[in-house]
Amino acid sequence: MAPFSRSLEPEWLDELPPEDPRAVRSRADLRRVNAIMGNARIIARHLGQARRVADLGGGDGSLMQAVERRLKRSLEVTIVDRIAGLEVFDFLAAPGRPLDAIVANLFLHHLTDRDLRRLFSLAAQRAPLFVACEPRRSRFALAGSHLMWFIGCNDVTRHHAVISVRAGFSGRELSAAWPIVDGWTLTEKLAPPFSHLFVARRDGIV
Ligand SMILES: C[S@@+](CC[C@H](N)C(=O)[O-])C[C@H]1O[C@@H](n2cnc3c(N)ncnc32)[C@H](O)[C@@H]1O
Repeated sequence: MAPFSRSLEPEWLDELPPEDPRAVRSRADLRRVNAIMGNARIIARHLGQARRVADLGGGDGSLMQAVERRLKRSLEVTIVDRIAGLEVFDFLAAPGRPLDAIVANLFLHHLTDRDLRRLFSLAAQRAPLFVACEPRRSRFALAGSHLMWFIGCNDVTRHHAVISVRAGFSGRELSAAWPIVDGWTLTEKLAPPFSHLFVARRDGIV
Protein backbone atom coordinates (compact mmCIF):
# COMPACT_ATOMS: atom_id res chain seq x y z
CA MET A 1 0.00 0.00 0.00
CA ALA A 2 1.25 3.54 -0.79
CA PRO A 3 2.64 5.26 2.32
CA PHE A 4 1.35 8.68 1.22
CA SER A 5 -0.86 9.99 -1.58
CA ARG A 6 0.39 11.17 -4.92
CA SER A 7 0.76 14.94 -5.27
CA LEU A 8 1.91 17.08 -8.20
CA GLU A 9 3.75 20.38 -7.82
CA PRO A 10 5.39 22.56 -10.50
CA GLU A 11 9.10 21.86 -10.99
CA TRP A 12 11.53 24.78 -11.14
CA LEU A 13 13.20 23.13 -14.13
CA ASP A 14 9.99 23.49 -16.16
CA GLU A 15 9.93 27.22 -15.47
CA LEU A 16 13.57 27.97 -16.31
CA PRO A 17 14.62 28.62 -19.93
CA PRO A 18 16.51 25.53 -21.22
CA GLU A 19 19.73 27.56 -21.60
CA ASP A 20 19.63 28.94 -18.03
CA PRO A 21 22.87 27.82 -16.30
CA ARG A 22 20.92 26.33 -13.36
CA ALA A 23 18.80 24.30 -15.81
CA VAL A 24 21.91 23.15 -17.71
CA ARG A 25 23.55 22.11 -14.45
CA SER A 26 20.39 20.34 -13.30
CA ARG A 27 20.27 18.26 -16.49
CA ALA A 28 23.88 17.22 -15.82
CA ASP A 29 22.84 16.31 -12.26
CA LEU A 30 20.05 14.18 -13.72
CA ARG A 31 22.61 11.98 -15.47
CA ARG A 32 24.14 11.19 -12.08
CA VAL A 33 20.72 10.63 -10.50
CA ASN A 34 19.86 8.20 -13.32
CA ALA A 35 23.16 6.40 -12.76
CA ILE A 36 22.45 6.02 -9.03
CA MET A 37 18.91 4.80 -9.74
CA GLY A 38 20.25 2.32 -12.33
CA ASN A 39 17.52 3.36 -14.77
CA ALA A 40 19.44 2.67 -18.02
CA ARG A 41 20.22 -0.85 -16.82
CA ILE A 42 16.62 -1.47 -15.76
CA ILE A 43 15.20 -0.22 -19.08
CA ALA A 44 17.78 -2.08 -21.20
CA ARG A 45 16.84 -5.33 -19.48
CA HIS A 46 13.24 -5.03 -20.71
CA LEU A 47 13.75 -3.83 -24.28
CA GLY A 48 14.18 -7.31 -25.77
CA GLN A 49 14.94 -7.11 -29.50
CA ALA A 50 13.43 -3.62 -29.92
CA ARG A 51 15.30 -1.42 -32.40
CA ARG A 52 13.03 1.55 -33.23
CA VAL A 53 12.39 3.29 -29.93
CA ALA A 54 10.75 6.58 -28.92
CA ASP A 55 11.75 8.09 -25.57
CA LEU A 56 8.96 10.30 -24.17
CA GLY A 57 10.27 13.29 -22.22
CA GLY A 58 13.71 12.06 -23.23
CA GLY A 59 15.53 15.27 -22.27
CA ASP A 60 18.99 15.56 -23.81
CA GLY A 61 19.02 11.92 -24.94
CA SER A 62 21.73 10.86 -22.51
CA LEU A 63 19.56 8.19 -20.89
CA MET A 64 19.02 6.38 -24.21
CA GLN A 65 22.74 6.64 -24.97
CA ALA A 66 23.37 4.86 -21.65
CA VAL A 67 20.75 2.25 -22.61
CA GLU A 68 22.56 1.63 -25.92
CA ARG A 69 25.85 1.21 -24.05
CA ARG A 70 24.17 -1.36 -21.79
CA LEU A 71 22.68 -3.22 -24.77
CA LYS A 72 26.00 -3.04 -26.65
CA ARG A 73 24.06 -2.21 -29.83
CA SER A 74 22.65 0.93 -31.39
CA LEU A 75 18.97 1.79 -31.61
CA GLU A 76 16.96 4.07 -33.87
CA VAL A 77 15.92 6.54 -31.17
CA THR A 78 13.40 9.38 -31.40
CA ILE A 79 13.72 11.75 -28.46
CA VAL A 80 10.33 13.37 -27.83
CA ASP A 81 10.83 16.38 -25.58
CA ARG A 82 9.48 19.89 -25.44
CA ILE A 83 13.05 21.22 -25.07
CA ALA A 84 13.47 20.04 -28.68
CA GLY A 85 10.05 21.40 -29.67
CA LEU A 86 8.25 18.04 -29.55
CA GLU A 87 5.15 17.51 -27.41
CA VAL A 88 4.39 13.92 -26.41
CA PHE A 89 0.64 14.00 -27.08
CA ASP A 90 1.13 15.45 -30.57
CA PHE A 91 3.82 12.88 -31.31
CA LEU A 92 1.73 9.91 -30.18
CA ALA A 93 -1.43 11.05 -31.92
CA ALA A 94 0.26 11.75 -35.28
CA PRO A 95 0.75 8.89 -37.70
CA GLY A 96 4.47 8.15 -37.71
CA ARG A 97 7.06 5.55 -38.48
CA PRO A 98 6.50 2.14 -36.87
CA LEU A 99 7.95 1.75 -33.39
CA ASP A 100 9.10 -1.42 -31.61
CA ALA A 101 8.99 0.20 -28.18
CA ILE A 102 8.19 3.38 -26.28
CA VAL A 103 10.28 4.32 -23.26
CA ALA A 104 9.59 6.87 -20.52
CA ASN A 105 12.18 7.62 -17.86
CA LEU A 106 11.39 10.04 -15.03
CA PHE A 107 8.66 11.55 -17.20
CA LEU A 108 5.25 10.01 -16.39
CA HIS A 109 5.27 11.47 -12.88
CA HIS A 110 4.85 14.93 -14.47
CA LEU A 111 1.36 13.92 -15.63
CA THR A 112 -2.01 14.10 -13.93
CA ASP A 113 -3.87 10.79 -13.64
CA ARG A 114 -6.15 11.91 -16.47
CA ASP A 115 -3.26 12.77 -18.82
CA LEU A 116 -1.57 9.49 -17.90
CA ARG A 117 -4.62 7.52 -19.06
CA ARG A 118 -4.76 9.57 -22.25
CA LEU A 119 -1.06 9.03 -22.93
CA PHE A 120 -1.30 5.26 -22.30
CA SER A 121 -4.29 4.97 -24.59
CA LEU A 122 -2.32 6.60 -27.44
CA ALA A 123 0.88 4.69 -26.65
CA ALA A 124 -0.89 1.30 -26.75
CA GLN A 125 -1.80 2.04 -30.37
CA ARG A 126 1.72 3.10 -31.39
CA ALA A 127 4.01 0.30 -30.13
CA PRO A 128 3.77 -3.27 -28.81
CA LEU A 129 6.07 -2.56 -25.86
CA PHE A 130 6.07 0.24 -23.27
CA VAL A 131 8.80 0.46 -20.61
CA ALA A 132 8.78 3.13 -17.91
CA CYS A 133 11.11 3.83 -15.01
CA GLU A 134 9.72 6.39 -12.58
CA PRO A 135 10.35 7.57 -9.03
CA ARG A 136 9.02 5.09 -6.48
CA ARG A 137 6.66 6.83 -4.06
CA SER A 138 8.03 5.38 -0.83
CA ARG A 139 9.43 6.63 2.45
CA PHE A 140 12.81 5.13 1.53
CA ALA A 141 12.94 7.01 -1.82
CA LEU A 142 11.77 10.21 -0.11
CA ALA A 143 14.62 9.92 2.39
CA GLY A 144 17.05 9.35 -0.50
CA SER A 145 15.68 12.39 -2.36
CA HIS A 146 16.67 14.60 0.58
CA LEU A 147 20.32 13.52 0.20
CA MET A 148 20.94 14.96 -3.27
CA TRP A 149 23.27 17.61 -1.84
CA PHE A 150 25.51 14.70 -0.88
CA ILE A 151 26.35 14.06 -4.54
CA GLY A 152 26.69 17.79 -5.27
CA CYS A 153 23.33 18.45 -6.97
CA ASN A 154 22.20 22.07 -7.30
CA ASP A 155 19.09 23.65 -5.75
CA VAL A 156 16.95 22.94 -8.84
CA THR A 157 17.76 19.22 -8.77
CA ARG A 158 17.30 18.97 -5.00
CA HIS A 159 13.84 20.53 -5.30
CA HIS A 160 13.04 18.32 -8.29
CA ALA A 161 14.08 15.13 -6.48
CA VAL A 162 11.75 15.62 -3.53
CA ILE A 163 8.66 16.62 -5.49
CA SER A 164 9.32 13.86 -8.04
CA VAL A 165 9.08 11.21 -5.33
CA ARG A 166 5.84 12.75 -4.07
CA ALA A 167 4.48 12.63 -7.65
CA GLY A 168 5.85 9.11 -8.21
CA PHE A 169 4.08 5.77 -8.21
CA SER A 170 3.61 2.67 -6.14
CA GLY A 171 1.50 -0.50 -6.15
CA ARG A 172 -0.36 -1.07 -9.44
CA GLU A 173 -1.14 2.59 -10.13
CA LEU A 174 0.31 2.62 -13.65
CA SER A 175 -1.33 -0.69 -14.59
CA ALA A 176 -4.66 0.78 -13.52
CA ALA A 177 -4.16 3.64 -15.99
CA TRP A 178 -3.35 1.32 -18.95
CA PRO A 179 -6.35 0.79 -21.30
CA ILE A 180 -8.41 -2.30 -20.55
CA VAL A 181 -7.88 -4.34 -23.71
CA ASP A 182 -7.06 -8.01 -24.19
CA GLY A 183 -3.66 -9.14 -25.37
CA TRP A 184 -1.34 -7.17 -23.07
CA THR A 185 0.75 -8.42 -20.16
CA LEU A 186 1.47 -5.77 -17.53
CA THR A 187 4.34 -5.88 -15.03
CA GLU A 188 4.70 -3.26 -12.32
CA LYS A 189 7.06 -3.42 -9.37
CA LEU A 190 9.78 -1.84 -7.28
CA ALA A 191 13.10 -1.70 -9.16
CA PRO A 192 15.61 -1.18 -6.34
CA PRO A 193 16.83 1.03 -4.97
CA PHE A 194 14.53 3.96 -5.83
CA SER A 195 12.69 3.21 -9.08
CA HIS A 196 9.20 2.06 -9.97
CA LEU A 197 9.14 -0.11 -13.10
CA PHE A 198 6.17 -0.50 -15.44
CA VAL A 199 6.24 -2.73 -18.52
CA ALA A 200 3.30 -3.27 -20.90
CA ARG A 201 4.00 -5.95 -23.50
CA ARG A 202 1.63 -7.02 -26.23
CA ASP A 203 1.33 -10.81 -26.05
CA GLY A 204 3.70 -12.58 -28.43
CA ILE A 205 6.35 -9.80 -28.39
CA VAL A 206 9.79 -10.87 -27.12
C1 LIG B 1 12.89 14.87 -15.39
S1 LIG B 1 13.20 15.19 -17.06
C2 LIG B 1 13.70 13.56 -17.60
C3 LIG B 1 14.57 13.59 -18.81
C4 LIG B 1 15.07 12.21 -19.30
N1 LIG B 1 13.99 11.27 -19.47
C5 LIG B 1 16.11 11.65 -18.37
O1 LIG B 1 15.85 10.70 -17.66
O2 LIG B 1 17.23 12.20 -18.38
C6 LIG B 1 11.57 15.33 -17.76
C7 LIG B 1 11.58 15.79 -19.20
O3 LIG B 1 10.23 15.79 -19.68
C8 LIG B 1 10.07 16.87 -20.59
N2 LIG B 1 8.62 17.13 -20.71
C9 LIG B 1 7.75 17.43 -19.72
N3 LIG B 1 6.49 17.51 -20.21
C10 LIG B 1 6.57 17.24 -21.55
C11 LIG B 1 5.61 17.15 -22.61
N4 LIG B 1 4.31 17.35 -22.38
N5 LIG B 1 6.04 16.84 -23.85
C12 LIG B 1 7.37 16.64 -24.09
N6 LIG B 1 8.33 16.70 -23.12
C13 LIG B 1 7.93 16.99 -21.87
C14 LIG B 1 10.89 17.99 -19.97
O4 LIG B 1 11.27 18.95 -20.93
C15 LIG B 1 12.09 17.21 -19.41
O5 LIG B 1 13.17 17.17 -20.33
